Amino acid sequence: MGSEPLRMGYVGCGFLAQHTHLPNFASLEGCRLIALAEMRPRLARLVADRYSIPTVYSSHLELAADRQVEAVGLSAGFAQQGEIAADLLRAGKHVFMEKPMAVSIAQAERILQAALQGNARLMVAYMKRYDPGNQLARETISRWRAESERGPVLYARNHGFCGDWLNTLDSSRMIRTDEPAPPAEYKEQLPEWLPAADASNYVGYLQQYTHNINLLRFLLDAGDHARVRNVDLNQDGMTGLVTLELAGVRSVIESAGSAFHGWDEHTQIYFQKGWIHVWSPTLFTRPAQSRVEVYEGGEHAGYHYPVVTPQTAWHFREEAASFVHAIRSDTAFLSSGEDTLTDIRLYEEIYRRHLGIEH
Ligand SMILES: NC(=O)c1ccc[n+]([C@@H]2O[C@H](COP(=O)([O-])OP(=O)(O)OC[C@H]3O[C@@H](n4cnc5c(N)ncnc54)[C@H](O)[C@@H]3O)[C@@H](O)[C@H]2O)c1
Repeated sequence: MGSEPLRMGYVGCGFLAQHTHLPNFASLEGCRLIALAEMRPRLARLVADRYSIPTVYSSHLELAADRQVEAVGLSAGFAQQGEIAADLLRAGKHVFMEKPMAVSIAQAERILQAALQGNARLMVAYMKRYDPGNQLARETISRWRAESERGPVLYARNHGFCGDWLNTLDSSRMIRTDEPAPPAEYKEQLPEWLPAADASNYVGYLQQYTHNINLLRFLLDAGDHARVRNVDLNQDGMTGLVTLELAGVRSVIESAGSAFHGWDEHTQIYFQKGWIHVWSPTLFTRPAQSRVEVYEGGEHAGYHYPVVTPQTAWHFREEAASFVHAIRSDTAFLSSGEDTLTDIRLYEEIYRRHLGIEH
């Protein structure tokens, strides 16, 4: 493992960068933020000053050409960030990028091709995989499957009713300027089969439920052993049920937006003789871990609520630390770009079925 701190750049210093990734990377001993690229120059200067970042660029291409930079964090427009990631990867920079990695299979494949060309690695920031509550649930599920005492996995269910995802966020320290945000063009990156009239529903479902699909695949260790069985969504393209088959397990996602003041998301994996149930915290609650319930059936039936440690963990900080560690130790990411291709394949298929569009 390299002993020098990882020399990192960052692209895009808007909402998510300021609330999560910049403070997290700035606070990690294993890396140093040495350059920032942002299209809004006054915002870039102010944010760079706050985090003592010595070099500021107005374009990610200039940052990609900076030979001092080894790896780059990235959060920009949901379809443009994939194009930015491809440019950085092609230039040989390892990339930590926000979800979604891509809005179509075609875009995802271009990004992965760029990583091969640049011999660089891509991690997609699915923070739920770095939540120690979800990690404990995954380990328990894996152990129960190996021991087989609790019988087979019967069913998996993610109840993902969105509420107020910002409910515990204090935005008072966020730096803002009156510079206009760059235009968020995204039509070109969408799947070619998607009718223009359905584009915003497609993006709306994708932006949220890519998290839920990705989490279920993680808990069941399904990898690419994943397919869509059934789709039953309302005309809003958001409210309803999607049934997947993940590692051979029928897995349902219940989706809707509601006016709940908090975040109503929980996931339950049912075995013949027990279950594991996890409740997700609101994104910006800090520190926070998913709450875990373990129920064991049979003769000595009972519930168990393990204390999830470390209690100081916050999924966004854990994922940043994990990226730095994986690059320095040359070990695998928990959420690689290659793995994410499966999510993109699934959500294209979900929407094709929802709209009745054949292959
Ligand atoms: N993990 C999560 O749950 C979660 C939550 C919210 C947002 N996100 C993702 O984070 C991403 C960013 O969201 P946000 O709310 O921070 O957006 P934002 O608009 O607040 O910030 C994006 C910034 O990127 C800059 N930018 C755009 N193109 C650039 C380029 N080529 N070079 C340099 N700077 C560029 C913009 O000027 C802007 O300041 C989105 O893709 C979104 O999907 C993830």
